[in-house]
Formats: sequence, C-alpha cells, structure tokens
Amino acid sequence: WYGRLPTKSELETLSKGLRTNRSLPADVVKAMKQMPKEALPMEVLRTTVSMLSMYDADAEDNVREANIRKAIRLTAQIPTIVAYWDLIRNNKEVVAPKEDNSLAANFLYMLSGGKEPNEVSVKSLDIALILHADHELNASTFAARVAAATLTDMHSAIVAGICALKGPLHGGANQEVIKMLLEMGTLDNVEAHLDKMFERHEKVMGFGHRVYKTEDPRASHLRKMSQELGKRAGDTKWFDMSYKIEQIVKADKGLNPNVDFYSASVYYMLGIPNDLYTPIFAISRMSGWAAHVLEQYANNRLIRPLAEYIGEM
Ligand code: ACO
Repeated sequence: WYGRLPTKSELETLSKGLRTNRSLPADVVKAMKQMPKEALPMEVLRTTVSMLSMYDADAEDNVREANIRKAIRLTAQIPTIVAYWDLIRNNKEVVAPKEDNSLAANFLYMLSGGKEPNEVSVKSLDIALILHADHELNASTFAARVAAATLTDMHSAIVAGICALKGPLHGGANQEVIKMLLEMGTLDNVEAHLDKMFERHEKVMGFGHRVYKTEDPRASHLRKMSQELGKRAGDTKWFDMSYKIEQIVKADKGLNPNVDFYSASVYYMLGIPNDLYTPIFAISRMSGWAAHVLEQYANNRLIRPLAEYIGEM
C-alpha cells in the first residue's frame, strides 16, 4: 500500500485503523438478515461489499488518502461480513467485533458466536491469510485493476475482484478440493476415485497453475500445516488422503498442488464451514487487491486489449 515498510508509529496507526473499523453499518446488517438463508457466502460477500459503498462517506472520492481509508475499512469489514453471514444463516445472534485482537483471532471469535479461539487455530489461520494476501496479476487482481483503470471507485474494483475470485478455476478451487476429499471419504478410496476422474477427463481441483510449473511455494507451507494440525488432533486422515492424491496426480499428470489444495484440509481441521473457504481467501486477498488498485490509480492508463476478428468478412 505504501511501497515501503512502516515505521513503528505508522504500523501502530494502521493496526489501530484495521482494528477499529470492523463493524458494519446497522442497515447493512439488517439487509443481510433479509437475504435468503441459502445464499452462497460468496454471493453475500459480493453483494454486501457493493452495498458498503453506499454507506461510505469516501465512496466517490478517488484521492489517495480517501482510497487508503477505504482500503483499511474494507480489509477490516470483509471478515465481519463473512462471519456474520454464517451466524445469520444459522439463525444465530451476530457478535460485535473486538478491537484488541488480530484479524485472524477476531474472525474466529465472531464466527464461533463469541468464543475465544485457541492459539493454534489463530496462528494457523494467520499464516494461511499471509500466504493468500497477494499474488501478482492473478485473475481476480487483474479484474480489480481493469475496473480501477476506468477510474471507477475502490468498492467497485474490489467487487470485480470478488466476482473473479469466486470461480472454481481460481479461488473457488479450495471448496472443490474439500468436496472431493469428502466424496472420497477414506484413504483406501483415493486411487479408485482419482482413476474415475481421470477416465472422465475431469480436472483435479487444487492442482496446476498458469505460472508455477514447479511447486507453488505456498503449498509447501500449507502441506506442513495440514500435517501438523492432523497430528495435534490425533488424526492425520485428511492430510494422508491429500498427500496420496498429490503423489498420484504428480505421477500420472505431472501436476503440482497449488495454494488451494492443502488449504482445504487446513480449514477443515480448523472446523471452518466448507463454503467459507473461498470467502476466507477474499478476506486475505483484499489487502493485495487494495495494493494493486492503489498502484493502478497512482499511474493509470485505461486497460483495453484489442480483439482480433477472425470471422467471415
Ligand atoms: N487436473 C487435471 N488436468 C489438469 C489440471 C488439473 N487440475 N490442470 C491442468 N490440467 C491439464 C489440462 O487438462 C491440460 O491438458 P491438455 O493439454 O491435455 O488439454 C494441461 O494440463 C494444461 O492445462 P491448462 O488448463 O491449459 O492450464 P492453464 O494454465 O490454462 O490453467 C489452471 C491453469 C486454471 C489453474 C488449471 O491448472 C486448473 O484448472 N486447475 C484446477 C483449478 C484450480 O486448482 N485452480 C486454482 C488455481 S490457484 C489460484 O487461483 C489461487
């Protein structure tokens, strides 16, 4: 966001901003309560972030200071939207965010309806959030930059990013991974299940990457975390299954796991509902989207590719 590391006092100011802007306007929470309970968390996130701009005093102000304020608010508010939606759809009371804990700790606190999370869960989620924070011109960041390059507002650009992240070929893949693991059910079923997928020429979600042809470095951290969480819980089943899938897909298809593959078993072991995995990706990637949007505004030119007409004259 700033192009350099902060001083101690700048860091304190930023952290305070991120901790004190976690609440949502009451009308927004009211509107969320009117949404259909079966709405997907990513649909709710997309709509609610869009709605937030209508309550943001800086919404149409595109100077850098206003955009930094909006970036802070959005980074602070997105976790609240995700946690609140899970409470609302389960007919539970929403819990006011705290101001004295980390983003990861506060998210888990709100999600559980007000229970203090344990240290291992907070640390694991924190690491996962750091790993997902930014990743160059991935599809959602590119979408956000294309929007920003029209000089539309920050909220609109972030909504564009959320829309692109939702797809199963991008951030939606982590939810598809847990679906596959649950369908397989046991270590013994892994091979036969994969064989069937290969026969049907189905993609194995969480594998392959447009840029990485070797291991996605984020996967190395998440693999380790998945194993450690399994060991702590006294049951490494989800890690063992994931590891076996990795070995088979590598041997048969020459594909490596990407960031989405092991994050699925990590979130599952943290007890996070399956359809919140992609929203958690958004919670983290918000910081990267904001950095790119700020960079785009600072040195803008409309992004407008040309199409080559190959149809009949
Ligand atoms: N499972 C099986 N086969 C695959 C997979 C996969 N996950 N990924 C690629 N392949 C195969 C393709 O079928 C293709 O084979 P072909 O040449 O015989 O047709 C070949 O590998 C090349 O794949 P492309 O899809 O052309 O590679 P591309 O760079 O376009 O796609 C992508 C990258 C979209 C990530 C792809 O690997 C994929 O669909 N993976 C599964 C979805 C996924 O995990 N997405 C998350 C990516 S990371 C992120 O966004 C955070």
